[in-house]
Amino acid sequence: MVRFHFCFSLSVCGFLLGTLFGCGGNVTDPRSIETTPTDSAAGPAADSSGASLMSVQSEPYGKGPNGQNIEQYLLTNDNDMTVSIINWGATVTSVMVPDRDGNVENVALGFDGLPGYLANAPYFGGICGRYSNRIAKGLFTLGDSEYSLHINNEPNHLHGGRLGFNRVVWQAKPVEDEERNSVGVKFTYISADGEEGYPGNLAVTVVYSLNNDNELTLDYTATTDKDTVLNLTNHCYWNLAGLESGPVLGHQLELNCDKFLPVDETLIPTGELKSVEGTPMDFTKPATIGSRIADVVGGYDHCYVVNKSEKLPALVATVTEPKSGRVMTVHSTEPGVQLYTGNFLDGSDDVNGFEQHTGFCLECQHFPDSPNRPEFPSTVLRLGEVYRQTTVHRFSVVD
Ligand code: BGC
Repeated sequence: MVRFHFCFSLSVCGFLLGTLFGCGGNVTDPRSIETTPTDSAAGPAADSSGASLMSVQSEPYGKGPNGQNIEQYLLTNDNDMTVSIINWGATVTSVMVPDRDGNVENVALGFDGLPGYLANAPYFGGICGRYSNRIAKGLFTLGDSEYSLHINNEPNHLHGGRLGFNRVVWQAKPVEDEERNSVGVKFTYISADGEEGYPGNLAVTVVYSLNNDNELTLDYTATTDKDTVLNLTNHCYWNLAGLESGPVLGHQLELNCDKFLPVDETLIPTGELKSVEGTPMDFTKPATIGSRIADVVGGYDHCYVVNKSEKLPALVATVTEPKSGRVMTVHSTEPGVQLYTGNFLDGSDDVNGFEQHTGFCLECQHFPDSPNRPEFPSTVLRLGEVYRQTTVHRFSVVD
């Protein structure tokens, strides 16, 4: 195992500055997330000498389909939180978080080793792209050209096609961010012009980072040499009670979303942005995921419109699991979030035996089928532009 130590100097430096100027030693992050008095990052801080234990370690995880080395990176903070990510699909393989009593458990569904991830039928933890979610009939027009994509989810294109970004090898590099006092890994992938039918050579980076506020942040950037469409997301399935605990129907969900996108029978948006009021889609006040799921045909698999916010990343969701006390708060710069309640998990080997509704996804992203909906926020990335999105998952506990 290779261990990269980054943040000892940062924490010492922060302490000295705080002592000298009375600023508490906090590194100010313009995007830092405000906490409520009731929640706290669980677990002990640092070691007994006060030194930070934040680190990135890497270990071999297996061989890719063409013999490529697949590595696993472990990001650890001072609060007993560890996030593991592999360079196959830039995929989160586990997120270890303490509960209210300090018991550390994995809260992200996954496979037990690389073979499951090479197929990754349910997209556990992976980065979806170029276009996460669906493009109707795999067709869109950009400029004077029509593009035809692979239909991998009849009759539509889903999550980038046959070999989406969750099923390719990414370059990986451990990184530190002094401003945020975090450790992380920067993943880079070059998607060739014409790959899966999309135009333009696209250079994509996703930086995963973990700080001592128990924030797992994903920063996405991309550039292209020809106009293209792009909609990236991460596809973690969460179960805040731990993976052995069965369905997530008792998790309390609150969404900062007054509207959602109704879909047709193939899960393509009709174009309407509909108020959630008076419908089972309404999570504007906390409600358990299971409270009205029976009234939603097939379960939740819908994109919500995140309420406009002056401050970005905007609050998207707060999920509380009453038994463990674990809380996950999601903020994002994205205009939408797909709530997917693991409806197609069927207990089979393809999904590592996970049963229906044993995980939920909150995929922060643009709206499905935007390339065919000029009225939706644009997903076109033009030559010369830089794509930037950020999503933050903050873990805490309540009594
Ligand atoms: C989609 C679901 C799909 C799942 C796994 C979600 O993002 O909305 O319809 O089954 O991903 O592919």
